Amino acid sequence: MLRENTPSPNGPIRLFHLSDIHFGLEDQRAIDWAKACIARERPHAVAITGDLTMRARHPEFDAATAWIKGLDVPVTVEVGNHDIPYFNLYERFFAPYKRFHAIENLVEAELHLPGVAIVPLKTTTRAQWQRFPWSNGWVTEKALAETLAAIDALPPGTRVLVAAHHPLIERRAKDNKLLTINGTRTMEVLAGRKVMAVLSGHIHDAFDLTAETPAGPLRMIGAGTLSKRIRSTPPSFNEITIEGNEIRVVARNLEHVPTPAMQIDQVPENALPPREPDEPVAPVGAVPPVDPPVH
Ligand SMILES: [Fe+2]
Ligand SMILES: [Fe+2]
Repeated sequence: MLRENTPSPNGPIRLFHLSDIHFGLEDQRAIDWAKACIARERPHAVAITGDLTMRARHPEFDAATAWIKGLDVPVTVEVGNHDIPYFNLYERFFAPYKRFHAIENLVEAELHLPGVAIVPLKTTTRAQWQRFPWSNGWVTEKALAETLAAIDALPPGTRVLVAAHHPLIERRAKDNKLLTINGTRTMEVLAGRKVMAVLSGHIHDAFDLTAETPAGPLRMIGAGTLSKRIRSTPPSFNEITIEGNEIRVVARNLEHVPTPAMQIDQVPENALPPREPDEPVAPVGAVPPVDPPVH
């Protein structure tokens, strides 16, 4: 018997794209609402693009695990820079994913829906010899090779979404600052594979942009946060509908702000509220007057 949320082969596919819940500093009202939406609307899958926790503490993982296990739909979870041990360096280097043990089958899981696959791409690293701190993204050659191998193994004609934590923008527009190492080449290679879109998080504001690469365009869809660490928009998640070769994105939020007012037009460095005049701010302009706590 078909499960209630089993998509018909030719019908639209609906995903909920959540990110940056940051258990430890989650917005309880926002996550209750998101969970109720998932229970009521039963999307075909939920993709959570990283930063489940604040500092990868055990109680934060326990809360995240309980919440995710309560979702009765297929889930994939990417690993964010906040999800690997920060204070325990031994664990950080030798067992960085250990604290995910209760949901390890969901971590960087490839999801297969009829005609559509969600393929993970790892952008979070234990250390970066190029710089410190290590909170920004890095697509290592190994990570890219794994993602490409997964894409190449799919049946021909499969529509592909790639799920990562960090946006793949390599350089910040205003000053060329290095953001995601190896992002430019990764975008080009993914565009060459005709990937429909890259889903990401990390910056706590939503966006829906198309990058032009030498191999063609690449859609980049960012989800906001469901935590109290807001940047310039209220807590939100993306509802993504795939119909044929079209993708529609709605940045859903409790404040009923229309999607265009929720989306920023450039990718900033991180999730800190914009304090300089040349930093991107979503049209809704919900910048917190005081920086949210970081611990
Ligand atoms: Fe985050
Ligand atoms: Fe992050």
